[in-house]
Amino acid sequence: MPILTCPVCGSTLTAKERAFVCESGHSFDLAKEGYLNLLLSTQHRSRHPGDAPELCRARRAFLSAGYYAPLREFVADRLQGDVVLDACCGEGYYTSAFAMRGHDTYGFDIAKDMVRLAAKADKRSFYFVAGLHRIPVESGSVDTLTHLFAPFADEEFRRVLKDDGTLLTVLPGEVHLWQLKQALYETPYRNRETPPQTGLTLVSKERLRFEIDLRTREDILNLFRMTPYSYKTSPDAKQRLCALESLRTTVDFVVLTYRKG
Ligand SMILES: C[S@@+](CC[C@H](N)C(=O)[O-])C[C@H]1O[C@@H](n2cnc3c(N)ncnc32)[C@H](O)[C@@H]1O
Ligand SMILES: [Zn+2]
Repeated sequence: MPILTCPVCGSTLTAKERAFVCESGHSFDLAKEGYLNLLLSTQHRSRHPGDAPELCRARRAFLSAGYYAPLREFVADRLQGDVVLDACCGEGYYTSAFAMRGHDTYGFDIAKDMVRLAAKADKRSFYFVAGLHRIPVESGSVDTLTHLFAPFADEEFRRVLKDDGTLLTVLPGEVHLWQLKQALYETPYRNRETPPQTGLTLVSKERLRFEIDLRTREDILNLFRMTPYSYKTSPDAKQRLCALESLRTTVDFVVLTYRKG
């Protein structure tokens, strides 16, 4: 069943050779890496929407080192049904693992460069460029929507989910990266575990807490760059972090499962 819709007129898109077309004749070519750009130029203001390239590089290096692999498996274990949509998928680190479990997996992100990387590396999933507030996907077509570390769009999420669909989302837990914060601040604060505002029904709240051993200065800095602390930390504190050769820190995630029906 095709689930993609035309970003111009909203009708169903169907595959036709190296393109996707709608009944009104709007046509979108597949990029050579196999992804579809469904983001209209009127839907974004910036020439390069999404995260800055240096942040993307840091995230890619950190994730590919495998530190968050337990979270990836934890979320993959909780997928329900056939059609999985990974919202704001970045470079597809989580998406690709969902496809490996045999789900009919889609991922989208507003950053074309991220989607290109994802599509290049993972031929099992289908990737497209799109914004979160107008997801070019049929209403009621998704069994499980996954949402990791990205902005939330409640109305769109509820629209695309099937009546019995599931939303899986992850929050940083109260002691997430505690030892990293101790290295930066004299009195670190615990995170507030604030769930998203949603009309969906919460069915479970599970915690995944483990320790990671950051083995190199580069790994420590890549993780730091991925956090909100990277732009609100004093140069002195950053200096302290740069002096570390390795760091063992707790990672703490809260995985929330919501149901539509
Ligand atoms: C912190 S990253 C997380 C990426 C991926 N989920 C992961 O955990 O590796 C946030 C992602 O959200 C994307 N993003 C931000 N605003 C967006 C929007 N309005 N629509 C779609 N994607 C968006 C960014 O481009 C970025 O790839
Ligand atoms: Zn159309």
